[in-house]
Amino acid sequence: MSNTPLSIAIVGATGAVGRAMMSILEQSDLNVENLYLLASERSRGELLDFRRKSHQVQVADEFDFSKAQIALFSAGGDTSKRLAPKAAVAKCLVIDNSSAFRYEEDVPLVVPEVNPEKIADYHKRYIIANPNCSTIQMVVALKPLHDAATITRINVATYQAVSGAGHKGVSELIKQTGELLNGRQVEPEAFTAQIAFNVIPQIDVFQDNGYTKEEMKMVWETQKILGDDSIKVNPTAVRVPVVYGHSEALHLETKDKLTAEQAREILSNAKGVRVIDDTEKGVYPTPLSQGTGSDAVFVGRIREDISLQNGLNLWVVADNVRKGAALNAVQIASHYVRTVLG
Ligand code: A2P
Repeated sequence: MSNTPLSIAIVGATGAVGRAMMSILEQSDLNVENLYLLASERSRGELLDFRRKSHQVQVADEFDFSKAQIALFSAGGDTSKRLAPKAAVAKCLVIDNSSAFRYEEDVPLVVPEVNPEKIADYHKRYIIANPNCSTIQMVVALKPLHDAATITRINVATYQAVSGAGHKGVSELIKQTGELLNGRQVEPEAFTAQIAFNVIPQIDVFQDNGYTKEEMKMVWETQKILGDDSIKVNPTAVRVPVVYGHSEALHLETKDKLTAEQAREILSNAKGVRVIDDTEKGVYPTPLSQGTGSDAVFVGRIREDISLQNGLNLWVVADNVRKGAALNAVQIASHYVRTVLG
């Protein structure tokens, strides 16, 4: 429990992640004395409840960030680039959910279960970056295995929920499903192809090397968070017609042999991880059961790779809006409050 009275701003408070940030803060033991809810001109004056009090949404561009000690940003990269430096100058710590600053050397990229020590570098820019949702759940599951057996290569295919694309992603899946079930045609808007009754092997734009930006984020961010540029990561990121909860099929190569039993034991004791793995009973995590409203990273289907000497396969599921974004940001904030603000 932290008694430090806090003034916190949420930039993008009306969005999917912003609302999750509010509800996680509401349940946290942080002593939030003042909460400033910020969004675009469109939401000016909208009323949102926090701890049984109504708060008016203000326009982020007009906000004086010196009023807050911490600002949680989730309003897209352009808003972060425009406003995060203003907040930082006012010594308001920015915890940024966009990719605007993630790859800058003096900006810590943090998953509290993995590299909490990097939060101490906050003072370099007064910005801490929150990683991409797919990277967060992957590194939470991988860190204890990496510590035990040194991962040399990660092959990963993701199955990413539409909420990763914000409100517009969720409404497009629901609207298209309704239209199609009523025999009407649909045109994709938020995604590059029809998402209802389909899967799309493209998230974000293609890069010169044939990978998408979402896939390359997983490469760069995993290496930065684990502090090891030699780890090879080979991702394929896929959008699936699921509302909440990202899933990942991970295929690892390790320097030292790890049996499935050893991996299960290590993961059962790992911070932030819950093992759900009983194939005899057909028990494993799914986004519908575990990927909504939960805090942990769920791991199942733990098995040795029959095609490799030191290979291990895992199925990893997490709530992309909570652990993949809002919860991770609030965990960083709590750590900062405990270790820096006192
Ligand atoms: P608004 O609701 O006023 O548009 P999502 O990703 O779920 O769509 O949410 C995006 C969030 O980012 C919303 O809160 C949205 O506010 C906010 N946002 C978008 N553009 C801006 C902007 N230019 N300035 C401040 N907030 C913005």
